[in-house]
Amino acid sequence: MPSFPAVSTLKTADDFRRHLAGGGIELPFDEEVDAGPGGVLAQPWKRARGTIGNRFCILPMEGWDGTTDGRPSDLTRRRWQNFGLSGAKLIWGGEAVAVRHDGRANPNQLVMNDATLGDLAALRELLVTTHREHFGANADADLLVGLQLTYSGRFSRPNEKKKPEPRTAYRHPILDARVGAGDQAVFTDAELDRLVDDFVAAARLAERAGYTFVDIKHCHGYFGHEMLSAFDRPGPYGGDFAGRTRFLRNIADGIRAVAPNLELAVRVSIYDFFPFMPGSEGVGVPAGAAPYRYAFGGDGTGLGYDLTEPSQFCTLLEQLGIELVCTTAGSPYYNPHMQRPAAFPPSDGYLPPEDPLIGVARQIAATAELKRRHPKLCVVGSAYSYLQEWLPHVGQRVVKDGGADFIGLGRMVLSYPDLPADVIAGRKLQRKKVCRTFSDCTTAPRNGMVSGCYPLDAFYKQRPERTTLQEIKAAHARALEG
Ligand SMILES: Cc1cc2nc3c(=O)[nH]c(=O)nc-3n(C[C@H](O)[C@H](O)[C@H](O)COP(=O)(O)O)c2cc1C
Ligand code: SF4
Repeated sequence: MPSFPAVSTLKTADDFRRHLAGGGIELPFDEEVDAGPGGVLAQPWKRARGTIGNRFCILPMEGWDGTTDGRPSDLTRRRWQNFGLSGAKLIWGGEAVAVRHDGRANPNQLVMNDATLGDLAALRELLVTTHREHFGANADADLLVGLQLTYSGRFSRPNEKKKPEPRTAYRHPILDARVGAGDQAVFTDAELDRLVDDFVAAARLAERAGYTFVDIKHCHGYFGHEMLSAFDRPGPYGGDFAGRTRFLRNIADGIRAVAPNLELAVRVSIYDFFPFMPGSEGVGVPAGAAPYRYAFGGDGTGLGYDLTEPSQFCTLLEQLGIELVCTTAGSPYYNPHMQRPAAFPPSDGYLPPEDPLIGVARQIAATAELKRRHPKLCVVGSAYSYLQEWLPHVGQRVVKDGGADFIGLGRMVLSYPDLPADVIAGRKLQRKKVCRTFSDCTTAPRNGMVSGCYPLDAFYKQRPERTTLQEIKAAHARALEG
């Protein structure tokens, strides 16, 4: 069974570099992180639409904790307050918000509609007020807050936590069986036209709620992402590149017509691999053999990437006047080691088949290549949390080298919300708050509980779910070993 040293044991820059060199892993890296307002990560991003105050971005993260009618709860509000006090100046969507009920990934996902509009406006306001309280009365002048709009598609579970109600773009040879999808699950063209209208309506409401941009989500195996690999789908919404991106183009055109001042953004999985499953000793293995043709940005082997189409996609974004792009990869459902590299797998996962630093380096390298080819795009990178203490060192170097414009933070802000503020102020990192990628924030919702950082956040540590979670994790570890 492969094993990898915990990043926390790589105590010095030399240890870290030696480990990278030993594994043939290439990562941009600065030995020292610049402190204070002159630091690379503290630099504002200036653009025609206004300034974004620094180079940290909070990635969208849902908590499975909204009300069943799609409104935020106190837990949701606490998370958004943490985003506001983080010090990051770009808030990429807060969390996935469904454009309608049947597209919710769980019965507690937020939904954008007339009834929830006021609650989602108040959620944004809370984040902004928290930001002002921590960073000054005018601190929101260079804070950009958007909302991520989603339709969960294949991974919809709108009514019961354990009941998949998939709606798909096409029949998939491996994933259909995992979610129980058949012919009836495949969207008709007319249904897709209506879904486009629902995205447009939700975007219009998001603008009324005060959000500066909406992210038309195209990642992680959800519907927008799946459309990009609808090679086999006949008709206007599939087949060639123009067909597979018609969904995005129609949504973008529709939003422009009704909300011309609303900025558009896209979070996209820039490559995808095979779905994985536990193999011998629980280590992840691909669930099929090459060739694999259902991966957007894949090289056909199911285990490598080819940026030809993702680059074409970036060109399309430029043509659509979409400047904000957030890169990510794969899906947390079927290849989580690529999407959110972790030392410990979630309970529906498998042991890492590669050093998680390889997964981090892969996303950073592919993002840098797209940024190099499309310098005018404003690019946010993802999957930095596994770097732990070395996150600021790598992030700074990536921005300095022009490999991305913003460093996106996911899990790290669940355990350590004020990391950006500490880095920018030149304060030493608080080690006890550093995310160690235990995956409890993924395992909890996979087992019907709200998400949160149960191991490190004192607020979640004392919740009753923690005990249940420990039992589930112990059983999962035994199952993987056995
Ligand atoms: C609990 C949890 C919830 C997430 N929810 C979303 C989401 O709503 N939308 C989205 O695009 N990504 C979501 N993600 C993915 C993160 O935005 C991010 O891509 C991923 O965690 C990798 O970044 P990291 O290494 O900083 O954690 C979620 C991740 C976690 C751990
Ligand atoms: S539960 Fe906490 S430590 Fe574990 S991955 Fe999530 S944020 Fe990180």
